[in-house]
Amino acid sequence: MYYQEEIVEEVRARSNIVDIISGYVRLQRRGANYFGLCPFHNEKTPSFSVSPSKQMYYCFGCGAGGNAITFLMEYEQYSFPEALQVLAERAGIQLPQEELTDEKRQQFNEKARLLAVHKDAATYYYYQLRGKRGEPGYRYFQSRGLTDETIRKFGLGFAAPGSNHLYQYLKQKGYTDLELKESGLVRIEERGASDRFWNRVIFPIMDVQNRVIGFGGRVMGDGTPKYLNSQETKIFDKSRNLYGLNEARKSREPYLLVCEGYMDVIALHQAGFTNAVASLGTAFTAQHGLLMKRYTSEVILTFDSDSAGQQAAIRAMPILREAGLSVKVLNMKPYKDPDEFIRNMGADAYRKRIEEAENGFLFELSVLKLQYSFEDPDQKTAFFHRAAQELLRFSDEMERTNYIEAVSREYGIDFQNLKRKVNELGNLGYTPRTERKTEYAPKKTERESAAQKAQRMLLAWMAEKPSLYGKLKDIVGPSDFTDAICRKTAEYLYEQLAHGQPNPAGIMDHFVNEEESFKQVAKIFYTKIRDDLTREEQNRSFRETVLCVKRNSLEEARKQAQDVAQMQELMKAQASLKNLNISLD
Ligand code: UTP
Ligand code: MN
Repeated sequence: MYYQEEIVEEVRARSNIVDIISGYVRLQRRGANYFGLCPFHNEKTPSFSVSPSKQMYYCFGCGAGGNAITFLMEYEQYSFPEALQVLAERAGIQLPQEELTDEKRQQFNEKARLLAVHKDAATYYYYQLRGKRGEPGYRYFQSRGLTDETIRKFGLGFAAPGSNHLYQYLKQKGYTDLELKESGLVRIEERGASDRFWNRVIFPIMDVQNRVIGFGGRVMGDGTPKYLNSQETKIFDKSRNLYGLNEARKSREPYLLVCEGYMDVIALHQAGFTNAVASLGTAFTAQHGLLMKRYTSEVILTFDSDSAGQQAAIRAMPILREAGLSVKVLNMKPYKDPDEFIRNMGADAYRKRIEEAENGFLFELSVLKLQYSFEDPDQKTAFFHRAAQELLRFSDEMERTNYIEAVSREYGIDFQNLKRKVNELGNLGYTPRTERKTEYAPKKTERESAAQKAQRMLLAWMAEKPSLYGKLKDIVGPSDFTDAICRKTAEYLYEQLAHGQPNPAGIMDHFVNEEESFKQVAKIFYTKIRDDLTREEQNRSFRETVLCVKRNSLEEARKQAQDVAQMQELMKAQASLKNLNISLD
C-alpha cells in the first residue's frame, strides 16, 4: 500500500512522538527534551533522547534515530504501511484505500506481499494436516503427544509428498513467480517449480505480532535433514526472532524459559509453561538478547543436557548477560531436552527443576571444572587459579564477595584464600577469560571527514535558525552538499525553508525505507550546536563551517572540471571565498 506524502505528513503531525514512545520507554523530562534508557541497545544511564519540537528521537549511545514512524518500524518491526496504520488509528484518521502506480506499489508492497504469501502458505499447510493427505502428519504429532488444541494453537501443518502442491495453490491465489521465488517457499527453475517443503510436518514461525514469517519442517521419523527451515528473506531474520515469543510475551511469569527446539517450546507450552521460547536453529545473538530484554530481565536456559547443548549454553550466556539479562541454567538430567523430560517426569517435576535452576556463573564454572581433575594437586591449583580469574568479572565489591563465598562453598576452598587470590590477580591486571565482549548494534560507520561534519553542522544550524536561510541561499545551495545523505536532506530542507518552517520529522519520511540513511538524517538534526560560546566565537565558527562546505564543494567540482575555462572559473570562486562576509546576526 502506498500513501500520498500529504497523508503521511498528516498522520505524523497528529501523532505526538513523546506519547508514542512513552508506551515503550520510561521517559523523563530534561529541559526541552525527554530522556530514557535506549530500547535499541543495553545501557544503564539514559542517552536516548526524544524531542517534542523536532518530533524525533536520537540515541547518543548507539546512533539509533528517526521519527514516530521509524520508531514503530524498528521497535515493533512493522513495515512502513503497518506503522502508518497504527499511528493513523491512534490519531483517529481514516487512511485512504489502496490506489496507485505499479512501481510504487511494488516498492512498498514487497514486504506486505511476502507476509501475505506466508499467511496463505500457513493456511494451506494447516488445512492439509486436517485432510486425508495429512493423516501421516497428524499421526506423527499425536505420537509426539500433542493435543488437538496445541496443534491448533501453534498452527501446525503438513506438506504432502509431491513436487509443487503449494506452488499451484499460491499461483491460483494470484502470486507471481517472482513473489513466490522471493518467499523461498518454492524453487523456480527451468524445468518447472518445486516446493521447498515436501513430506514434512510444518511448524509456522511467527514474529511477535503473530505474523507468519517462515517455516520449519520436520521429517516424520528418521531422515536428513531432520528439520528444514525457511531461508532468510526480507521478512525472516533468524537473529531477530524467537520461536514462541508471540505467546511467551503474554505470559505473566517474570522470566523466559529459553530452549533449543520447536518441539521443546511446544511441549513446554502444552505443559503450562507458556513463557518458553527457542532460537531458530541458530546461535544466540545480541539482537536476541535485546529482544528478550523488552519483555523480561531474567532467562532460564533449558538447553539439551548433552555436551553440545551445554556448550551452546556457555556460548549464549555472555551474550545474554551483555543485553542486561540475568541468566540461570536448568538441569534436565537424565533426560535430553524439555520435551523428553516432561513426557517422562511431568510438569510438576519440571517446575521443581525451575526452582532449582543454577546461577549462570556457577554453571559455567562447573562446566570448566570438567577439564580439571582434583585428584591431581597441580590441576586443582590450576582450577582455583582459573576460578579466581573468572571471579574478576564481578566489579561490584559485594557481588564479588558473595560469589567468592559461593564458589568456596561449592568446591571446598578456603574463603580467605580464594579472596586473596582474586585480589592478587586483579592487582596483576588479569581479566576474566570467558567473558567475551559481543559486538553491539552500532556498526562502526566510516569516520566522518571534516567536510561531512561541516555539512551536517550547517544543516543543523539552518534547521535550528530558519532565518539563516535568507542569508545562505545565494551562497550555499543543496548541490554544495557533497555527502549524498546531506545533499538529499538539504534539498528537502531548502524546499521547506523556502515556503515556511523547517520540519525535520517530515524529512525523515523520505528515508523510512532505508534504515542506515534515516539514522544519519536523525543524527544531522541532533547535531548539537554549542551554546556555551560567546557571540563572536559563534559567528566565527559559523563562518568557518560555511567556508568549509563551500571550499569542499568547489574542490570536488574542480576534480570533475571538463576544461580549462571551467577550472579557472572555479579557482576564481575559491579565491573570492576569502572575502566572504557572513554571520549569524
Ligand atoms: P534437536 O536436534 O535438538 O531437535 O534440534 P529437537 O528439538 O529435540 O527435535 P525433535 O524432538 O527430535 O523433534 C534443536 C533445534 O535445532 C534446529 C531446530 O530448530 C530444532 O528444533 N535444527 C535441528 C535444525 O534447524 N535442523 C536440523 O536438522 C536439526
Ligand atoms: Mn527433542
